[in-house]
Amino acid sequence: LDLVAKAFLPPSGAAVLPTPTYAMYRVVTEQRGARAIEVPRLGQADGWGLDLPAVLAAARAAQVVWLCSPNNPTGLPEPPGTVDTLLMDLAADAEANGRPAPIVVLDEAYAEFVGASLLGLRRDYPRLVVVRTASKAYALAGLRVGFAVARPDTIEAIAPYRPPGSVSTVSVAIVTAALEDDTVLEANLARVERERDRLAAGLRAAGWDVGPSVTNFLLAGFGSRDRAIDVAQGLLRRGLVPRTFGEGHPLADHLRVTVRDTDENDRLIAAAVELALPAPVAAS
Ligand SMILES: Cc1ncc(COP(=O)(O)O)c(C=O)c1O
Repeated sequence: LDLVAKAFLPPSGAAVLPTPTYAMYRVVTEQRGARAIEVPRLGQADGWGLDLPAVLAAARAAQVVWLCSPNNPTGLPEPPGTVDTLLMDLAADAEANGRPAPIVVLDEAYAEFVGASLLGLRRDYPRLVVVRTASKAYALAGLRVGFAVARPDTIEAIAPYRPPGSVSTVSVAIVTAALEDDTVLEANLARVERERDRLAAGLRAAGWDVGPSVTNFLLAGFGSRDRAIDVAQGLLRRGLVPRTFGEGHPLADHLRVTVRDTDENDRLIAAAVELALPAPVAAS
């Protein structure tokens, strides 16, 4: 993400962020001195999908469009056909107005969880950069390996920004072995799916409004920011760290939690149950 921002975002430039989405897109955009143009996604009832006309309009002023499917923190993929349509519209709009089409970054950090990728779309949209990571479905976040798939001339434009020795040979060797062994992915996906369903059921039983998720995290709504903060503090006191969203964020009344191993998920469920109980009345 950082390299794409360096390669394609000039300091006076702009990037489109369909929000809510992964927080780092804004960070790497603003680190370049470029402007983040937030475009609200459709609501929860519409699966947090892209508002296509609004993204298209905003992209006229931008060099980069940040897409993420399945999206963090909403936990859902774009509805089928959405990204394809957007790319077609972006290309047609740029051509009609005589300007280069924007670079579209499609972050597929969670793509393995849906078993599908849109990286084939780079054939029709040459300025597509698909980004992947070993951190999620391969559960190898500590190795710090991610990569981009794009057409050769696009990769050539990114390559000069790679710091020397940015990925260790040890990390590359381990991730390569994991990528080549289908059983690693199968086992991880089965574990996440099983634990995600169990965790979601446990949290719902404790009164949490847990939304659907195809990823290794769950997003839960609490109806008000105060309640979300109360629950977050209760969890923190028990050594559990949820993702909170700041005031003014469209998910300010939500928390995001990661699906972890069985014992850790049990701890979270137990904490949610405790926090749902009425506070004990002090003895007089
Ligand atoms: C959508 C998305 N992209 C990229 C990343 C970055 O993962 P990493 O830096 O571990 O490769 C994350 C991690 O949370 C993410 O949610």
